[in-house]
Amino acid sequence: MKIETKAVHAGDRKKAGPHVPSTTPIYTASTYFYESMEELDRVFAREEQGYCYSRYDNPTNAALEELVAALEGGHGALACGSGMAAIHMALLSALADRRKSVLAANALYGATVSLLMNVLEPSGVAVRFAELWDLDVFRQAMQESKPGCVLLETISNPLLRLAPLDRIAEIARAAGAALVVDNTFATPVLLRPLELGANFAVHSATKYLAGHGDVLGGVVVSDAPHYENLRTISRAVGPVLGPFESYLTMRGIKTLPLRMERQCANACRVASWLAAHPAIERVYFPADPAHPDAAVIRRLLPAGLYGAIVSFELKGAGRAEIFRFMNALRLIVRATSLGDVHSMMLYPVMSSHREISPRHRERMGIRENLVRLSVGIEAVDDITHDLGQALGPLP
Ligand SMILES: Cc1ncc(COP(=O)(O)O)c(C=O)c1O
Repeated sequence: MKIETKAVHAGDRKKAGPHVPSTTPIYTASTYFYESMEELDRVFAREEQGYCYSRYDNPTNAALEELVAALEGGHGALACGSGMAAIHMALLSALADRRKSVLAANALYGATVSLLMNVLEPSGVAVRFAELWDLDVFRQAMQESKPGCVLLETISNPLLRLAPLDRIAEIARAAGAALVVDNTFATPVLLRPLELGANFAVHSATKYLAGHGDVLGGVVVSDAPHYENLRTISRAVGPVLGPFESYLTMRGIKTLPLRMERQCANACRVASWLAAHPAIERVYFPADPAHPDAAVIRRLLPAGLYGAIVSFELKGAGRAEIFRFMNALRLIVRATSLGDVHSMMLYPVMSSHREISPRHRERMGIRENLVRLSVGIEAVDDITHDLGQALGPLP
């Protein structure tokens, strides 16, 4: 089945008694009743299919997990209470039987950097950052740090770099390191990391998967060898998603391919419009033929689908000018997220990358005049009109 079909059907309509509901119900029960202790014992022992306790498994979550695993081409998935919980679970599972060392891309979502430096490093995990876009740099960093795990984002936040995932997967696999890929920005509509050799694909489901700004959630998809570890660690840590959020995420995913198609097309138009505007210093967008990863983009992304995030720098702007510009937006929502049906804009130094030191941010190339726009499904002319009026009259 193609991804558009899977998005609508996978995981749904599980028979739960004599009736087959046409969409997955929200199972709010925290625990389950069995007629006999013998039956419950068999379920606990996993000799019989069933549910014991919602920290272990929940039928609504199981449906969502089956759906996202199908979209990503993975063996199984775990629905978590946030994208950060999902990244944490993936890293713990990846490192369980390996050297406690992570080699991470040096452009990552701010809280992911914080998880590595403020949570994992103090607990004994060695953390190193490197330019994973350059394979020579990556190979050298692999040799020097001998990591148990490599971590990167398919489309990096907020400068939209694309790493040669397929090659990185080969190198990591040969070195015995697990590869964890945050696929939040690309979604399985654009890229499926497990099909390219990664061991884990992670999502902030808060973003494109749910897509409507009403869910905080995350999903880890893993290959077969890591799946049992993932579930065992989750049972002990308890990062699970609530069933209502699971339901909303499944509902959102039904239109994921449609939304991505529209949002990506809108983003292409917005990026071209911004590039031609005299107040804009630089536009970061993967469709740009001068993009530093243009060859990887041609090889890995489907034609015409470049993601729906456009980052750009305003000429000569500092914090005050950015505040003035963003305060003037009327349609585009000033908000700290991305991937919703409505367009929204974020100021990375103030929000997503706030927790990172100015020196580290500078090294990442995130400047004071950079903003990140998540392009929605609105009519594209309304989006560019709003940008135009907020930028002010042309000189
Ligand atoms: C690429 C990426 N990964 C992970 C996260 C964390 O997700 P959540 O906020 O759902 O914990 C975010 C949040 O913005 C993100 O942009």
